[in-house]
Amino acid sequence: MSNATNSPAESLIYVELGERSYPIYIGSGQLAAVGISRFIQGKKALVVTNTTIAPLYLSALQSQLQDKQVDCVILDDGEQYKNLETLNLIFNQLLENNHDRKTTLIALGGGVIGDITGFAAACYQRGVPFIQVPTTLLSQVDSSVGGKTAVNHSLGKNMIGAFYQPQAVIIDTDSLGTLPEREFSAGMAEVIKYGLIADAEFFAWLEENSDALKRGDQRALTYAIEQSCLNKAKVVSADETEQGIRAILNLGHTFGHAIETFQQYSGWLHGEAVAAGMVMASHLSLLSGGISQQQLDRIKRLMSHWSLPIAPPADMNIDDFMQLMYRDKKVLDGQLRLVLLQELGQAVVTSDFQTDLLRQVLLEGCSE
Ligand code: NAD
Ligand code: GLY
Repeated sequence: MSNATNSPAESLIYVELGERSYPIYIGSGQLAAVGISRFIQGKKALVVTNTTIAPLYLSALQSQLQDKQVDCVILDDGEQYKNLETLNLIFNQLLENNHDRKTTLIALGGGVIGDITGFAAACYQRGVPFIQVPTTLLSQVDSSVGGKTAVNHSLGKNMIGAFYQPQAVIIDTDSLGTLPEREFSAGMAEVIKYGLIADAEFFAWLEENSDALKRGDQRALTYAIEQSCLNKAKVVSADETEQGIRAILNLGHTFGHAIETFQQYSGWLHGEAVAAGMVMASHLSLLSGGISQQQLDRIKRLMSHWSLPIAPPADMNIDDFMQLMYRDKKVLDGQLRLVLLQELGQAVVTSDFQTDLLRQVLLEGCSE
């Protein structure tokens, strides 16, 4: 098992998708080191970012693009702006500044900016290239990799979107220095997810190295992001458009999306909702004969170590969950499918669980 001090401080990995393959650069100082300009074929680019990130990182990015004509659109900050109205602001900017099919969009920000920019790139003139420069832990380990792009609808999260891969992902771990602690912890929920679904050794590494990660140890950070991206890249390469195995990346998300939709995208952070969801999915896995009580306790302990919720919000009840969960994208022909753990480190997508046990998990969760 690697420990925090013997792994390298930077890493380059690839998402293998034939002609849509792309690199992921990870490490301190990568924004300056990579040379983002070489991934831009045309003369123009549009940077999409928000009011929080622009003052922190926009000029550093612009200084890497001096050989290009660069426009910027600075959006309001928040999940509640990940919608069609905001998407239209990006299109307005592109059209008003005469961006043609050779333009490149650059997403500078967290998952909200990455998802909306990717979807804008997928739609604009039927598709233009885009690059991900993720600045939150969550976006570095999950949303910037794999090509899922979307905006929300008031009736459901990420309901309008496309699979559309970026040209490159540039993860500069220095950006995590300004990230609020709560946002970092929310990103850790998705890091822990990879241990749960595919990598028991990584889960154990996280149990041992959480303090190094909390201290901001660069090697530990790079290792955690690298392992997350490697695990994600493997699943995405096997099933780009989620016909099967890719759905395991959604462990806890059916519960989590129900929480986010219930709170109208302005309550818990995405990672927090997913953390509570993963505990509920793990509890159902235990009741269905998958993981052991001891493993469920380890999962709860690691989540709690990162101050992540391990139970749903106090104001949600079982009916709220049942109604919202049946709107999930994994529902097929009216049948709910969930990601459950057969083992710690091995997930399966299944509709083969007892509804009574799901109701028990929700009842117990909602009364905690
Ligand atoms: P976010 O994009 O809202 O960013 C969180 C907050 O941190 C925002 O206020 C943002 O402005 C701020 N921020 C970003 N970088 C910063 C930095 N370096 N320093 C200081 N502040 C910074 O949230 P998120 O957690 O990054 O992403 C959540 C979104 O990602 C959700 O919409 C979710 O649906 C989506 N998501 C998509 C995928 C996918 O595969 N496409 C996967 C997981 C999550
Ligand atoms: N975040 C889930 C996926 O990319 O499939």
